[in-house]
Amino acid sequence: MCVSQYQTPQGRIVYSPKTAMSISRAIAEQMEGTSWIRRMFEIGVRLRQERGPENVFDYTLGNPDVEPPAAVTEALRRVAAEERPLSHGYMPNAGFPDVRAAIARGLAERSGTSVTGEDVIMTVGAAGAINTVLKSILDSGDEAIVLKPYFPEYRFYIENHGGRVVEVDTGERFQPDVARIAAAMGPRTKAILLNSPNNPTGAVYPAETLRELNSIVREPAILISDEPYRTLTYDGVETPETLALIERAVVAFSWSKAMAIAGERIGYLAISPRLAEAAALRDACTFANRILGYVNAPAIWQRVVAQAPDAMVDVRQYQAKRDLLSDALNGMGYDAPRPQGSYYMFPRTPIPDDVAFTGLLREEGILAVPGVGFGRGGYMRLSLTLPMIQIERSLGGFERAMGKVRG
Ligand SMILES: Cc1ncc(COP(=O)(O)O)c(C=O)c1O
Repeated sequence: MCVSQYQTPQGRIVYSPKTAMSISRAIAEQMEGTSWIRRMFEIGVRLRQERGPENVFDYTLGNPDVEPPAAVTEALRRVAAEERPLSHGYMPNAGFPDVRAAIARGLAERSGTSVTGEDVIMTVGAAGAINTVLKSILDSGDEAIVLKPYFPEYRFYIENHGGRVVEVDTGERFQPDVARIAAAMGPRTKAILLNSPNNPTGAVYPAETLRELNSIVREPAILISDEPYRTLTYDGVETPETLALIERAVVAFSWSKAMAIAGERIGYLAISPRLAEAAALRDACTFANRILGYVNAPAIWQRVVAQAPDAMVDVRQYQAKRDLLSDALNGMGYDAPRPQGSYYMFPRTPIPDDVAFTGLLREEGILAVPGVGFGRGGYMRLSLTLPMIQIERSLGGFERAMGKVRG
């Protein structure tokens, strides 16, 4: 049946429950209750029509704006030219064994652990990886801890599998507060989701914090480390190796951001061989990968990433934008710390009402996501995935918005 929808003056899409009877209540509520990013996208479409695309400065979307490294496109051409018989069919649900073994060799070397191809499951990006592991461990009513502010999709991923979200505040400079996490854990805690380098804050968690976390993650809980930005770090900062530091860990990695191939949907889950139940979890994740409908990760892209697993976009492009924007904003009086990783900045809004402040920015053609969309009001997320020239042209708007609140 046809779903009727209308747009409110604030740009929100609202579905009429009377006419959209086939839509589940849960999905209707989730769509209505959240996704600032989506909402901003729709506002952006309208603003572009009104002002012209060159006068809209869209800091909302996390889609890489660089081309994949040459090593990746070359590997793609090689893979396409290979005459490997029956290479486009189904494969074991966990992925091609030789690809998994190649990924595991790199992981074992970096982490100093005995991880093997058996512990690696190829997935449909990090999103597929997280859903696969959550499906494998959550029973209805089980709890998963997320650290505020957090990537809003986590709530949907957890609720997809009947889980309950437990939000825990981060501490100083958005670092995990291990004591608070420990206090939030109970007999039904099955997962702690960690994301470093972080979306939205750009924080990278040091090895010492991971060691402290290791001491509190006890059965039946597992730490899920979501690492799509693992290699996007600045100023020589390195993301610590989760598998080396946390016994009860599962890493969800993806090449979406590292290789700027977010549309190709390729990543992996790496299950710590030190987990007592590693073998059972591997089997459960392989099964979940299948029954969630992924079946297996894209065949061609498994082959490509195995040929160039460490190829990286040029991080200096993001770093140059980060430096320009954080210097400019701090110079105007914003509190805009430089992120250590990812391609997001999370400055404080000059007034506590982040929704009102992002409204003022919108009057200047600048689109930013209010911090409340990530569970932390009083901040805003700026994604460094627009061209440098657009960042430069947007600076006057940031200054005028600051001027308005200073009076
Ligand atoms: C923190 C975080 N986790 C997971 C994902 C999903 O990544 P993928 O495209 O690899 O599924 C994203 C994408 O923006 C993200 O920011």
